[in-house]
Amino acid sequence: MSSVEFRSVVKRFAVDDGELTVIDGISLTVPGDTFAVIVGPSGCGKSTLIHMVAGLETPSAGEILVGGKPVAGPAPDRAVVFQKFALFPWKTARENIAFGPRNLGVAPAEREATVRHYLELMGLEGFGDRFPHQLSGGMQQRVAIARAYAVRPRVLLMDEPFAALDAQLRVVLQENLLQLWTREGGTVLFITHSVDEAVYLADDLIVMTRRPGRIKRVLDLREVSARLGWRKRPIEEVMQDPEYLHIKAEVWRNIKEELTQ
Ligand SMILES: Nc1ncnc2c1ncn2[C@@H]1O[C@H](COP(=O)(O)OP(=O)(O)OP(=O)(O)O)[C@@H](O)[C@H]1O
Ligand SMILES: [Mg+2]
Repeated sequence: MSSVEFRSVVKRFAVDDGELTVIDGISLTVPGDTFAVIVGPSGCGKSTLIHMVAGLETPSAGEILVGGKPVAGPAPDRAVVFQKFALFPWKTARENIAFGPRNLGVAPAEREATVRHYLELMGLEGFGDRFPHQLSGGMQQRVAIARAYAVRPRVLLMDEPFAALDAQLRVVLQENLLQLWTREGGTVLFITHSVDEAVYLADDLIVMTRRPGRIKRVLDLREVSARLGWRKRPIEEVMQDPEYLHIKAEVWRNIKEELTQ
């Protein structure tokens, strides 16, 4: 179990006319094995926040701890899934998934077992030998998720992973991801612009302010989600629940305040 802890994190970027403060003092703990979803206005620093957890960017002040240890750069305990299908086009699905374990020195037999396991869990049996261009967008993103999981990360960072998919496919992948996460565990930080997706997936739903990004609110949805069995039901059904609609309206109101201030 790895928690993700932000301690007074500030991020500034150098721009032409000086400095741009993108993150302005974020303190937050995401407990281990939590599915945390981050929403907020465009440009409020969501991607920057997870790039810092990934070790791809460094905070200007404050620190980020994963499993109690300060982040000192990219490492396989944190895997990233981006919006754009970032697969190696010259490798098959199987080779893409095997890439991380191979780099970590996992023996071929175990590697093969891992690949098979995740191909199966993501519903990709029979597609392992295809190259990315021979797969649909949804399948490519499933390969990307399988590839991220294959290094057995403690933290999975997902930056709008389903934004490029059509609405129907998106629903299937949300359910797929939940099944995978329920089975494999880990801490997930998931960014989305879809409030529907956020309310359905989140244990903790984190609402950010507009830039400079701060935490506006954290909604703990564990109780309601468990009580109404959301994760065991199809999203289209959950979306009819009065409590779901109420929370969704509340989140929308919070986001709108940030857009109109
Ligand atoms: N390397 C960089 N140098 C300068 N400015 C940057 C850099 N990276 C991001 N920014 C700026 O920081 C701000 C926050 O960017 P970020 O991508 O984190 O926002 P976001 O919340 O993910 O937005 P979106 O919802 O549109 O994806 C933006 O104004 C962006 O232009
Ligand atoms: Mg972004």
